[in-house]
Amino acid sequence: MEIFLDTANLDEIKRWLEYGLVDGVTTNPTIMLKDGAYHMSARAREIAALVQPRPVSVEVTTNDRREMVMQGRQIASWAPNIVVKIPVINEQGEPCLGVVRELEASGVHVNMTACLSYGQAILAAKAGASYVSIFAGRVADDGHDAPGLIREVAEWLRLWGSPAKIIAASVREAVNIKDAAAAGAHIVTVPPPFLEKFVDHRYSRETVRGFNEDAARALAQMEELQAIAVRADRRSGGQASR
Ligand code: E4P
Repeated sequence: MEIFLDTANLDEIKRWLEYGLVDGVTTNPTIMLKDGAYHMSARAREIAALVQPRPVSVEVTTNDRREMVMQGRQIASWAPNIVVKIPVINEQGEPCLGVVRELEASGVHVNMTACLSYGQAILAAKAGASYVSIFAGRVADDGHDAPGLIREVAEWLRLWGSPAKIIAASVREAVNIKDAAAAGAHIVTVPPPFLEKFVDHRYSRETVRGFNEDAARALAQMEELQAIAVRADRRSGGQASR
């Protein structure tokens, strides 16, 4: 399973890249705003350069579907590894599936975003989206079974040989990462604080502390034994070490 970072924070991206853990990055206008990236195109370019050749999702910011195609082409021109995020429907509920078909046909990879149901996810895949983002946290907020939805969509993709990859998004708790993985998501996009929680464990810290303390005790014992041996040697006038 791949791990994407759901962030526009450059320091966090650098840090997790150093650990070898980043397979891609996802953003949206809310994440950009939260991370102080008011100049979205500049930050998107910076992220793309930092993580290339890994994919970076950047979202269109319009309800108009013709405008989405134009924005999508422009966004994709910023860097070769940019994937364009298109919402499955706009604010008026109009399907944006034709936008996916048009962009993918012209070589622009699309991440169909804000999918909250089985129907939306499989139609996104059928329209040719490279990635289908299932907003697991929002599905759960809405009272539905997010891992169950991911599992059903993953099964459908497998059954029909669809190349689309599921991105489990909208992570709300560290356990969502495990749930998404077990349900068959190809990718989980994770805000960095949840990865932090995922790697930490207070008992691991205690365990390591115990080993380090015992290593220090063993060293002290060894030094004491060596000192005794040196003293014995001196007393015997060097006979002991001959
Ligand atoms: C990622 O691609 C999504 O935009 C993001 O995970 C949405 O998260 P939210 O539901 O917390 O806004």
